[in-house]
Amino acid sequence: MDKVITSYAAPGAAAADNAHPVIDIQGLRTQFGRAVVHDNLQLQVRQGEILSIVGGSGSGKTVLMRQMLGLEKPSRGSIRVFDEDIHAPTADNLDFLRRRSGMLFQNGALYSALTVFDNVAQPMREMGTLSESLIADMVYLKLHMSGIAFEHARKMPSDLSGGMVKRIALARALALDPELLFLDEPTAGLDPDRSDSFVSLIQALHQQLNLTVVMVTHDLDTLFALSNRIAVLAEKKVVTIGAPQEVVQFQHPFIEKFFLGGRGIRAMEVFAPAGAEGVTP
Ligand SMILES: Nc1ncnc2c1ncn2[C@@H]1O[C@H](COP(=O)(O)OP(=O)(O)O)[C@@H](O)[C@H]1O
Ligand SMILES: [Mg+2]
Repeated sequence: MDKVITSYAAPGAAAADNAHPVIDIQGLRTQFGRAVVHDNLQLQVRQGEILSIVGGSGSGKTVLMRQMLGLEKPSRGSIRVFDEDIHAPTADNLDFLRRRSGMLFQNGALYSALTVFDNVAQPMREMGTLSESLIADMVYLKLHMSGIAFEHARKMPSDLSGGMVKRIALARALALDPELLFLDEPTAGLDPDRSDSFVSLIQALHQQLNLTVVMVTHDLDTLFALSNRIAVLAEKKVVTIGAPQEVVQFQHPFIEKFFLGGRGIRAMEVFAPAGAEGVTP
């Protein structure tokens, strides 16, 4: 396979492969005071893929997701989602675009004062147009899809395990039938069994619901189990993007450190069935 690794050192290389991106970020700059977080960052997300973003702590992964959701405005550049510049539309448009996206926040944050049911119902109630009986049906459907039994619906988040809280947060992210799902560290803090089962859940929902998924993760098992492509955020931009097998071979100090430690080599064994030639460089 001699597929070229798309590097943004070579602009334009991705265009042919990616004519109609769901998200198209061009010339993005993000600055907080004097700190520049993103500088001339380009990124395209393809319809139906699971794209993972990796990068060091503080490299601006969460901020980038929030910008793609329209929750934070970049200092410069454009972010087009479903062909709309989400930082320059009318308020109506933005509401509509936000409804086409769901997000699982980094700490799976549920409202601690609301029951499981009310947490999932909250985005539906905010729309102000749905009857309570329709909302109830939809909440139970989303909980069922996320593997939460109905008997838990009246419980408070504090009565539930971390794995269940993540599933409920996922049910809430799916409340309005999004086409785009953002996951920020979805398996952080879960033990390996719970993490594996959450990965299987995301895999199943991605297929069943035809979702485009943008995910941030530090967990290599999650990364390799789910990603169609990986984008590496370093030096304030996307230094490389491509299939996992390609990205791990890209020469960059962050990539070597991130992927080629002992954990990385074990996680990459998914690419090299026992006895086959390994991917270890
Ligand atoms: N609203 C804000 N005001 C000032 N600095 C911020 C703000 N949001 C994020 N930052 C800074 O931007 C950088 C990137 O943050 P973040 O996207 O959360 O990183 P990560 O890649 O770890 O998710 C960090 O240095 C963070 O402190
Ligand atoms: Mg973060």
